[in-house]
Amino acid sequence: MRWLPVISPEPQRAAHGATVAASAAPSSEHRGGVEHRVYFEVFGCQMNKLDAELMLGVLDEEGYRLTDDIKEAGVILYNTCAIREQAENKVFSRVGSLRGLKERRPDVVIGVLGCSAQNHRESIFRRYPHVGVVCGPGEFLRLPELIEEAREKGQVAALALETPIRFKRRRNLGPNRYQAFVSVMRGCDMACTYCVVPRTRGPEVSRPVREIVDEARALVDGGVREITLLGQTVNSYGKRLGPGRSIGLQHVFYELNKIRGLERIRFITSHPRFMNPDLIDAMADLEKVCEYLHLPVQSGADSVLWRMRRSHKMDHYRRVVVACRERIPDLGLATDIIVGFSGETEDEFRQTYELMKEMRYQSAFVFRYSERAGTPAAAMPDDVPEEVKRERNQLLLELQKKISLELNQESLGKVTEVLVEGRSKRDASRWSGRTRQHRIVVFPASEGEDLVGRLVSVRVTEATPLTLIGVRQDGAGYS
Ligand code: 5AD
Ligand code: SF4
Repeated sequence: MRWLPVISPEPQRAAHGATVAASAAPSSEHRGGVEHRVYFEVFGCQMNKLDAELMLGVLDEEGYRLTDDIKEAGVILYNTCAIREQAENKVFSRVGSLRGLKERRPDVVIGVLGCSAQNHRESIFRRYPHVGVVCGPGEFLRLPELIEEAREKGQVAALALETPIRFKRRRNLGPNRYQAFVSVMRGCDMACTYCVVPRTRGPEVSRPVREIVDEARALVDGGVREITLLGQTVNSYGKRLGPGRSIGLQHVFYELNKIRGLERIRFITSHPRFMNPDLIDAMADLEKVCEYLHLPVQSGADSVLWRMRRSHKMDHYRRVVVACRERIPDLGLATDIIVGFSGETEDEFRQTYELMKEMRYQSAFVFRYSERAGTPAAAMPDDVPEEVKRERNQLLLELQKKISLELNQESLGKVTEVLVEGRSKRDASRWSGRTRQHRIVVFPASEGEDLVGRLVSVRVTEATPLTLIGVRQDGAGYS
């Protein structure tokens, strides 16, 4: 039984935006009828993609198979993202456009899953009466049963968030056979005023260390060489686990580091508040933990951070970055920034601009503030004009591009370890992979070789802001 990749490889980030259509090979174990053919689209962050993977796992067990042709599907599912208005509008316009199809084929079940489902709950049925399943991020493992129920009753909603996060991962459906995402927690205990996540994913729940390690071991037995641990505030992992002793993400690192055959460990996304010395020590000491840290700052001005209720000040953020760079000198640091948050003045924006110069991030994901209904910031004025948001966004992107290029140029002539991910999308005669710092590296492919999943040495000969270009070092492969 095999699913073709449903999740396309994307730059590693917590940010939300991509959409992926599904396709899969038929299998003898699958039931043949149209009612068991699923069209599935995924929007948003890595977490959503992993949820989709787990959903596909349970559907697969019930005999469903994927199709990339919506016209031949009996079940149409959208795993949605609510983080910004644009993402949400996109999915609802798709859902709206299915009204005619449902009229022509009343037996089709349409499902809205994930964050937007949780966010809008029953109003979805009112606005889109042709939708049959509304299922939040806490209940997606019940999907086969919900689809059956919708067939009988017409409509069904499942929106509990306090469900335990217990699932069995059957196989890796990730970007490729060698890379997998593993969820360590669900939800978020923070209360950033602009953010819809605490509302859509509920309070933080951590998975026990043993379950994570067992899952990782099974993935590595299946050929996986790189594991990325996922959590909304991944470095606060462990709260409320093991009463009487404190458990942190470093405990997961220590256990995973022992797994033979696993080469790289990554984790996204970290919150500045929880970057403690034990965790930094583990990152520095454990050879499998990559030198990459995604540490969103959101703004360089304390006044904005206060309005965002970010629970960290700039002073703390700077100290954390200094501590990380002291212990991990070749750290690749990435961040998220929101421009145009409620009341953001020229001077506040300037502080963010200056911070970017000071930090010299390897990469930065910059977002224009998007007001989300139901968040505390929705009660504040969304008063920075759209063109000012756009202008600030542009200024930061240009600055970041310049810094990324300068940092990449520092690699010229150096040899770097690359985990090969596949052929370059731009040029199929080249391999594309990533350094431990998560930089993209491309290099020419030789006829007849398959390097996917291999660690190789590449000497960097050219640098652009987003990509290092190089040549493979003869005889210096890692595997
Ligand atoms: N508007 C714009 N960007 C947002 N983010 C979260 N909520 C919003 C919003 N309402 C950004 C933050 C976060 C990233 C995942 O998305 O920068 O780190
Ligand atoms: Fe949203 Fe803040 Fe939680 Fe991140 S830490 S998911 S920005 S509330």
